Amino acid sequence: MIMIVVDSMDWTSATGRKIVLQEGDITRIAVGAMANAANSALAGGGGVDGAIHRAGGPAIMRELDAIRAREGGCSTGSAVATGAGILPATYVFHAVGPVYRDGRHGEPELLAGCYRKCLALAEERAVRTISFPAISTGVYGYPQKEAAEIAIREVRRHLERSDTTVEQVIFVPFGQSAYEVYREILGGRAGRTITCS
Ligand code: APR
Repeated sequence: MIMIVVDSMDWTSATGRKIVLQEGDITRIAVGAMANAANSALAGGGGVDGAIHRAGGPAIMRELDAIRAREGGCSTGSAVATGAGILPATYVFHAVGPVYRDGRHGEPELLAGCYRKCLALAEERAVRTISFPAISTGVYGYPQKEAAEIAIREVRRHLERSDTTVEQVIFVPFGQSAYEVYREILGGRAGRTITCS
């Protein structure tokens, strides 16, 4: 498994906060909270959603059933929290990314909202480590580079806050080409820990 750790000098020296890039299957990585790319019905699906439900077991869907009954689902650009079943995590945050049309229908703000909401859910639960798949970049068609830029921007903004409980964010692109997209934006080189400003 290739790992790049991209540490901002300020983050590591002052606070030890980190962004980690780790290609592969998000369900295999132990964290406090694992973000999922869900749909607004919280009904499960394919892609990373299917992988999370398969690996986590039926307890996750039972909790989503209760949320659906209570709240009717989850709006696009937001997220809901459940336990993680038998996944190596305490929570799963089910984020509903936008379906990409042309980028001029509020998609960037909605995608940013997913990351912000997941990070807010992490704060509420004093989560220290959270992993993110590339939300909306599969079935929902969001261009990978644009989506990764939004994801990285929102996470960096959050980690720059002085009061966050989050110490480590792990981006988990699936496949080598998705990994390269993140690596280029983060400015890293495979297998090295690097610093970025
Ligand atoms: N680990 C990490 N990333 C994964 C995994 C995995 N195990 N499986 C797939 N991916 C990646 C895909 O390659 C893609 O880049 O997750 C990214 C998001 O793709 P989708 O899972 O298709 O999610 P999204 O585009 O947000 O569409 C959401 O798909 O599965 C349904 O229920 C889900 O209806 C919702 C829709």
